[in-house]
Amino acid sequence: MNASVVVAGAVFDQGRLLAARRSSPPELAGRWELPGGKVEPGESGEQALVRELREELGVESRPLERIPGEWPLKPGYVLQVWTVALVSGDPRTLQDHDALRWLAPDEVDDVDWLDQDRPAVAEAARRLRGA
Ligand code: CDP
Repeated sequence: MNASVVVAGAVFDQGRLLAARRSSPPELAGRWELPGGKVEPGESGEQALVRELREELGVESRPLERIPGEWPLKPGYVLQVWTVALVSGDPRTLQDHDALRWLAPDEVDDVDWLDQDRPAVAEAARRLRGA
């Protein structure tokens, strides 16, 4: 069976990357992630990402590019990441998170990212710096 896909967004705005601090479950609370969630049946990855960012942050967004690769999560799940532009709205903590931070390229290592998000965060930061 194929692994289920969790999608997450490296949301870029004004040269900064959005980081979201998880409020649950207890074993992940306090760690920072690229916001996102599980792809539901019948959805593309991009559609799921737009829906998740609407539900969790109250924003309309547009996926830009998939960051190559995918990373294992718990058994049966893999993480895929897109860079994302904001279309409208200011991100707010509506669901799953209790803090948000906009990180400039030299601040990207200042938060305690989930281990599985780190490779994509590093690549997102590289793109943010225009490297
Ligand atoms: O919102 P939904 O229930 O669809 O998904 P979620 O609980 O936000 O994420 C599903 C799983 O993916 C959780 O185990 C998260 O820890 C994991 N995840 C992750 O490792 N990295 C992310 N950037 C987003 C989710």
